[in-house]
Amino acid sequence: MALKTINPTTTKAWSKLQAHFKTIEDSHLVDLFAKHNSRANEMTIQWEDFYVDYSKHRVSKETLDLLIELANEVDLKDAMNKYFGGDVINETEGREVLHTALRNPKTTEVNVNGENVMSEIYDVKTKIKDFSTKVINGELKSHTGKAFTDVVNIGIGGSDLGPAMVVDALTYYKNQLTTHFVSNVDGDHVNEVIKNLHPETTLFVIVSKTFTTQETLSNANTLREWFLKNAPKEAVSKHFVAVSTNIEKVKEFGIDEANVFPMWNWVGGRFSLWSAVGLSISLAVGFENFDNLLLGAHKMDEHFKTEDFDKNIPVITGLLSVWYNNFFNAESEAVIPYSQYLNQFATYLQQGIMESNGKSVDRNGDKINYQTGTIIWGEPGTNSQHAFFQLIHQGTKLIPAEFIGFAKSLHGNQDHQDKLMSNFFAQTEALMNGKSEAVVVQELKAQGLSEEKIKELTPFKIFEGNKPTTTFLIDQLTPESLGKLIAMYEHKIFVQGIIWNIFSYDQFGVELGKQLANTILKELVDTNVSNSHDNSTQNLIEYYQNKKQS
Ligand code: F6P
Repeated sequence: MALKTINPTTTKAWSKLQAHFKTIEDSHLVDLFAKHNSRANEMTIQWEDFYVDYSKHRVSKETLDLLIELANEVDLKDAMNKYFGGDVINETEGREVLHTALRNPKTTEVNVNGENVMSEIYDVKTKIKDFSTKVINGELKSHTGKAFTDVVNIGIGGSDLGPAMVVDALTYYKNQLTTHFVSNVDGDHVNEVIKNLHPETTLFVIVSKTFTTQETLSNANTLREWFLKNAPKEAVSKHFVAVSTNIEKVKEFGIDEANVFPMWNWVGGRFSLWSAVGLSISLAVGFENFDNLLLGAHKMDEHFKTEDFDKNIPVITGLLSVWYNNFFNAESEAVIPYSQYLNQFATYLQQGIMESNGKSVDRNGDKINYQTGTIIWGEPGTNSQHAFFQLIHQGTKLIPAEFIGFAKSLHGNQDHQDKLMSNFFAQTEALMNGKSEAVVVQELKAQGLSEEKIKELTPFKIFEGNKPTTTFLIDQLTPESLGKLIAMYEHKIFVQGIIWNIFSYDQFGVELGKQLANTILKELVDTNVSNSHDNSTQNLIEYYQNKKQS
């Protein structure tokens, strides 16, 4: 069954939120806390190893009630049932959206075209397990009989960002294999990776759902050519495996069918790390850890499916995002993990969030007259404090931020951990409370500055505060907690897409550039080919052609 197509701005809840917004837009968080003693406790969700505090948001109980009313009016529950139930909710591509099935227990039933897909999923999981275990323990050998030392994941977008982020995030759990990621069609990328590889002991995992992606096939061809400089043709079957839905194209590339890890059209690229797309994760940290990642995601699925909306982490975070995006007109959101392991987390989320919800046509096919997808950005703290935090604290833009921290470090260096976490807590406190004129003056006086100097400096040193944040305090970074966190964002994306009445699971916006690049490429490699372009593009192409020949 199709998703409902309710324009959120026509709901009663939306009108109420607009009126309510006027009563709250000028309130300061400090006053909201002063008025409501139990706010911190009431606006916190403790679930499993997650402690999620959303009390530092410019909302009251009434705001939350109205946001939940909005979710009910657009029938979020019905949409959730269709999402988990395998309805074709990716209507523009005619597909189900079933990445959640990949982390289900085997005994559940998920039907696609009348067939339960759980046994296929578990067949592939078994294949991932067997293969990665044999590579890790050296049972599967290179063509010269050596154990593999390096794994190269060749893919882009969803076939790169998820595995790359997770492998980096789970560095602590890694085994002896060194994992590399090649994504960009920029030849310097692949050549830099090649510099560190030994062809004799390197395993190549080509990941492409479609197996038609220019970047991935170019990199795969380059790596195969390089590999064959030092190895006979038959060796390819021992060193190259593929993850794809397009078995024919994989075979055309020269990979044995036995070396293909299938995936399915009902798994979107940006939600695919739970499938065989995660093979390089399983190779890097072992199947048990990979499976625990899936277990964590499944637990979050269950939480999302069954918890009341007012205690439901993806629902609350999704609704808060709508509140800032559509009522405060905030354009971006920052994600700040206080863990260097999550260095690539915001980059990963950018695809998930912006490819999904960067849409301007609603589910009726009509142009939208309200804001949709938020701009996502971020870097780990404390590094980001010394980079862009100035703008969040004292700039002119409102930037709601999600802070993610872990109570226990992995290496157990308590001195560093306490310093890290003191910053984690201090930043959200500072963003909320700011620093008043009175405090600034007092501090400057204490430094012995003259009256005149104090007057001159005070305006620059005031922090208005009132900057909203959510704090995710998680026990420890483990494969399971990471799985929960990623799934939380997947469902947050879903909640937002349902409220905004858009299709979150297609990505036609990335096609036009690809088409034009193919046309231009023909001109770049063959000077007899010419196409008509606007003057600017034409001049740029000509300038490039002259330069490359000079
Ligand atoms: O960027 C567009 C996109 O289609 C993504 O959605 C996808 O993750 C990526 O390209 C790679 O596609 P494929 O796995 O088919 O190579």
